[in-house]
Amino acid sequence: MRTQVAIIGAGPAGLLLSHLLAQDGIESIIVETRSREYVESRIRAGILESSTVELLDDVGLGERLHREGEEHRGIYLQWPQERHHLDFLDLAGRSVWVYGQTEMTKDLGRARNAAAQQIVYEVTDTALHDLTTERPYVTFWDIDGHDLRLDADVVVGCDGSFGPSRAAVPDAAKQTWERTYPYAWLGILADVAPSTNELIYAWHPDGFALHSMRSPTVSRLYLQVEPGTDIAQWSDERIWDALAVRLGHGQHGWKLTPGPIIDKSVLPMHSFVMAPMRYGPLFLAGDAAHIVPPTGAKGLNLAVADVGLLAPALTAMLRGKDTRLADAYSATALRRVWRCTHFSWWMTTMFHTSRDPFDAQLQLSQLQWVANSEAGATGLAENYAGLPIGF
Ligand code: FAD
Ligand code: PHB
Repeated sequence: MRTQVAIIGAGPAGLLLSHLLAQDGIESIIVETRSREYVESRIRAGILESSTVELLDDVGLGERLHREGEEHRGIYLQWPQERHHLDFLDLAGRSVWVYGQTEMTKDLGRARNAAAQQIVYEVTDTALHDLTTERPYVTFWDIDGHDLRLDADVVVGCDGSFGPSRAAVPDAAKQTWERTYPYAWLGILADVAPSTNELIYAWHPDGFALHSMRSPTVSRLYLQVEPGTDIAQWSDERIWDALAVRLGHGQHGWKLTPGPIIDKSVLPMHSFVMAPMRYGPLFLAGDAAHIVPPTGAKGLNLAVADVGLLAPALTAMLRGKDTRLADAYSATALRRVWRCTHFSWWMTTMFHTSRDPFDAQLQLSQLQWVANSEAGATGLAENYAGLPIGF
């Protein structure tokens, strides 16, 4: 097989990149280890920042998002006995949208289908070759047991945190930064109307809690738990009880309505950045190059921003032999990556409790400042609602 751009991974980064390239007349083929059904039902992100929504609108992918998604003006910050609303529209002139990654992936999947995009699902043993030449290629086995080779001008690793692309860059050609946090999240999806109109981020001595949502009838909630927590130790009743305590059920008349839990999982919290996001003809985008803890709701948005920069860069390089944008891609993308890495670390360390009483007082002081000072609130709003793609 031969194409202009070989894309590894059909997550949001890979699918959106192929869509953007196709709009500019650049051909690509995607290879993906999972099935299409699996990719489209993987429960992950739920918040799209303003620049993500603008980009999706610009490339004809915003129709269902505007019909079925929900625009939020801001979020609530909470600690015991206090809840404050931050209005992003007033503070930073931008809003966010609640729209599941599952839905965005389905929209992308349909658009790619309509354009007859070639996506090879359920491949195994994906490997990258000849990355020090101008003739790179990717090999893999398809589901029928054929040993295939895909030649391309450029390979893009959109294969998330466990894919082979990152590892294909030799150690001597990359630098990495990493932080593992001493907390994890227990996330649930529940068949019940959200008990709040906008997301609640709650600091509590027992640990952080987050009330998010997917639709007017489906809630998504998270609890801070110990890393390595065994989900079997958390019955549905124990989860709802802990959420009620941490989210302040009964305070100032607010009630948390429990409901049937339809999905339950424990997620680790990790920061990771790799630089540069390019090695010769290999470019990295999304979680393949960087991971943020979910507290700032940035992972999916960063993946979108990366491919928003990469698509025009590859187009200029492949069509007009103009390599300036491609040469600048890594440095440009990393500016935003580090901003979001800092914001996600800051939100994580502000909300997650340790057993240290000094840390707790610092966190509460910080939250009070953010909630009550226009400068503090604007800083959070600007970062959460999202900076421009080329920031
Ligand atoms: P992925 O979505 O991981 O896609 C990579 C793809 O590559 C996968 O389909 C994978 O199967 C495929 N692949 C892997 N290995 C290979 C191989 N060898 N060959 C071929 N294909 C391969 N982000 C936000 O912005 N907002 C949020 O609210 C938010 N909440 C989150 C909540 C949870 C519970 C989790 C887990 C994440 C959350 N994130 C959030 C992060 C967000 O989901 C990710 O950052 C996003 O999925 C990154 O997209 P991606 O396309 O780069 O990678
Ligand atoms: C989600 O809805 O899954 C979600 C929302 C906000 C976050 C993280 C996850 O910060």
